[in-house]
Amino acid sequence: MKQYKVGIIGATGMVGQRFAVLLENHPWFKVEALAASSRSAGKTYAEAVSERWLMSTPVPESMKNITVMDASADIEKIASSVDFVFCAVDMKKDEIKALEEKYAKLECPVMSNNSANRFTDDVPMIIPEINSDHMLIVEAQKNRLGTKRGFISVKSNCSIQSYVPALEPLRKFGITKILACTYQAISGAGKNFDTWPEMKDNLIPYIPGEEEKSEKEPLKVWGKIEGNKIVSATAPLITTQCLRVPVSDGHFAAVFVSFENKPSKDEIISLWQNYSGEPQRLSLPSAPKQFIHYFEEDNYPQAKLHRNLENGMAVSVGRLREDTQYDYKFVSLSHNTLRGAAGGAVEMAELYAAKGYFD
Ligand SMILES: NC(=O)c1ccc[n+]([C@@H]2O[C@H](COP(=O)([O-])OP(=O)(O)OC[C@H]3O[C@@H](n4cnc5c(N)ncnc54)[C@H](OP(=O)(O)O)[C@@H]3O)[C@@H](O)[C@H]2O)c1
Repeated sequence: MKQYKVGIIGATGMVGQRFAVLLENHPWFKVEALAASSRSAGKTYAEAVSERWLMSTPVPESMKNITVMDASADIEKIASSVDFVFCAVDMKKDEIKALEEKYAKLECPVMSNNSANRFTDDVPMIIPEINSDHMLIVEAQKNRLGTKRGFISVKSNCSIQSYVPALEPLRKFGITKILACTYQAISGAGKNFDTWPEMKDNLIPYIPGEEEKSEKEPLKVWGKIEGNKIVSATAPLITTQCLRVPVSDGHFAAVFVSFENKPSKDEIISLWQNYSGEPQRLSLPSAPKQFIHYFEEDNYPQAKLHRNLENGMAVSVGRLREDTQYDYKFVSLSHNTLRGAAGGAVEMAELYAAKGYFD
């Protein structure tokens, strides 16, 4: 596979740092440009993150001395020096939308972790194992933007990555309704226990905007391309509650689900264990060998023990049993900053690379 030159926009932030670590020895992607706000621009990457490095491994050696650029002021320079960019910035939604579109219009594809473009009709929201067919909408988007190779693709919110993968193989039974309560790690807010000591021995029953995203985004992922847009599915009914819990990494979901045609417990477990998608067929570098791992032990999966399964890219499921009000209930777990954020975006970019979209 050809090597692609890559930029990270928002490189100094929590997700940006995770991108830097994941891309350090990536077989297809080489980081050539790092960008953030004007506050960081002009500093070396090592200087810019010196007081705020949150990863457990050191700042990547190959990136330490790269001078951080200004994501907006240096946009032409960045766009012309790389094959595509990853983007994870903390800005106002309309500013992010404008910034991402500017990169795309400069013929620089954008792999986005931001929510700003998730509901733009012709921007695919990709979970690579689930809806790789939505990539086809990119041609319509390029027509709208007037570009040859520039486009935007987004990944979904981290909360839905804990339960949508487990539900995907069961859709053929006609899922009618879903209730999901998520228990979300503090790294999802860009924090750890040093920067957010109030979260020790605590639980906060509100994460702004998260329940709306958790109920709406699965329907876009399960939607269909119609003409030049992706039309969200209208079923199943989804209701959620999202809580912040004192866990460093790993989002949990407690899920209740009903079907038109209720499958057996064995059928469900077998479908989970045998499920694979395009990343497994293409053997993408970041793809887990097995996407969904089912655990029989009543006290599994656990955040600490299983969030890093298959480099944090697998989804762990357990406690499948019948329910008195819904057909079944179960729990599921995914690593929110790996599968749920930077890792999911890297796998999405690998999918585009494998299909020739960056050539
Ligand atoms: N944390 C997660 O697990 C997670 C998961 C999924 C999606 N996301 C999304 O990813 C994005 C980043 O999240 P985060 O947790 O990494 O945030 P963060 O730690 O606060 O980092 C924000 C980044 O944005 C940059 N930035 C801020 N204002 C900017 C501007 N005007 N122009 C250019 N760059 C600017 C910052 O640069 P400076 O350092 O120079 O200020 C920094 O690099 C957000 O949209 C978030 O919703 C996060």
